[in-house]
Amino acid sequence: MSRFAYVNGSYVSHRDAAVHIEDRGYQFGDGIYEVVLLINGKMADCDGHLERLKRSLRELEIESPVSEAALRQIMKRLTRLNRLKTGIIYIQITRGVARRNHAFPKNSLASLVMTVKHVNVDIGRQISGKSAITVPDQRWDRRDIKTIQLLPNCLAKQAASKQGAYEAIMVMPDGSVSEGSSSNVWIFNNENQLITRQTDEDILNGITRRSIRRIAGERQIEIVERSFSVAEMMQAKEVFVTSATSMVTALTLIDGKKIDEGEVGFIASALKADYIKYVQTGI
Ligand code: PDD
Repeated sequence: MSRFAYVNGSYVSHRDAAVHIEDRGYQFGDGIYEVVLLINGKMADCDGHLERLKRSLRELEIESPVSEAALRQIMKRLTRLNRLKTGIIYIQITRGVARRNHAFPKNSLASLVMTVKHVNVDIGRQISGKSAITVPDQRWDRRDIKTIQLLPNCLAKQAASKQGAYEAIMVMPDGSVSEGSSSNVWIFNNENQLITRQTDEDILNGITRRSIRRIAGERQIEIVERSFSVAEMMQAKEVFVTSATSMVTALTLIDGKKIDEGEVGFIASALKADYIKYVQTGI
């Protein structure tokens, strides 16, 4: 089946989809993106992702080329055209095409591209945990903006990949965990507290994180938003990450050391099941 992409007003074959070489996304990484998960035809947290997309645009003073209603229409149409039931929708908006100059161009029209991709999403119980490594966080100071400038994240993920690990956990100069290269990190400690870093400019305010926070609260789990050190993480009963693509994924081996007994924990399993139910039923 041929794949379709959306590029600046047109639905085109994925193979031929292209933007101009002077697009500022290509030249400067001057743009933002969102990734939305689709499970059995149901979009996960679409409102939250579009809210964050608007915020990222605002922070970078990029004007969206389409309204939110149009964006939703394009997401639906592209999903339908590609007959996608389960996978991800990728949305990218850049400042558009202009003669190369660092300062913003006066009249460029932002570029919007959208692709969808089939992904095998494991909606069953996670049987075995994943491994991670820790790496220094080498990013800029505005990690709350979901920009397409992902080189430090790519380097971190590549370091993990080279070691056969699933995720790289990024560590700030003060020794605290910021987040994963493409996920938020959570720990469940011996006092039965579920801890995840507070949202400020140091991390991306994950949309999955927000839903998991709500779901955990409904389960009467005590949630604490604060930073934690690598040492504290290694002592935890459970460590897991959340993101649109990983949903809730338990990490049972970090830097070659087992977390607790090295098994997928109860909290991560329960939250994953609740999250999938929420995506499919809305509750
Ligand atoms: N990444 N932190 C970082 C650095 C991320 O890149 C992501 C998501 C998250 C989790 O955010 P959310 O729950 O809204 O997906 C946290 C996406 C999936 C990606 O880059 O593919």
